[in-house]
Amino acid sequence: QEAHAAEMERTFIAIKPDGVQRGLISEIVSRFERKGYKLVAIKLIVPSKEFAQKHYHDLKERPFFDGLCDFLSSGPVLAMVWEGEGVIKYGRKLIGATDPQKSEPGTIRGDLAVVVGRNIIHGSDGPETAEDEIALWFEPKELVSYTNNAEKWIY
Ligand code: TYD
Repeated sequence: QEAHAAEMERTFIAIKPDGVQRGLISEIVSRFERKGYKLVAIKLIVPSKEFAQKHYHDLKERPFFDGLCDFLSSGPVLAMVWEGEGVIKYGRKLIGATDPQKSEPGTIRGDLAVVVGRNIIHGSDGPETAEDEIALWFEPKELVSYTNNAEKWIY
């Protein structure tokens, strides 16, 4: 059980400034919680523009890059690490398509957002980005390892 927990997949999830200020933190956190994923790190921070540029470095050639980094650094972001089987891929499924006009109803963006530039949430898109983003946003000591007794009913 302990060894199993140690091997569990982790992903980086962030509620962007629009989601925080619209009062959607508890709504979004509850969707990951109720699914059965485990919260292992969480903090509210206002990233600098330079930090936002690091986070979105893969998109630096895109025309929306500058506006996107201004937006991400415009207010508090709720940064989190969630853990569990398939959490990277399934987290993206809970979040929905990048453009909320194309996100299915029932997904976070489908239910709670309207336009791509204000799509309220970020989630790592693969194992390598998850690792890089967790390392960018969190120090190792901020990640909490614990046994959640409810997991014996999930796994
Ligand atoms: P991307 O990594 O492609 O999407 P996702 O967040 O689903 O992984 O893009 C990062 C963010 O950039 C996206 O959440 C919203 C913003 N964005 C725009 O503002 N305009 C666009 O045309 C695209 C593709 C993204």
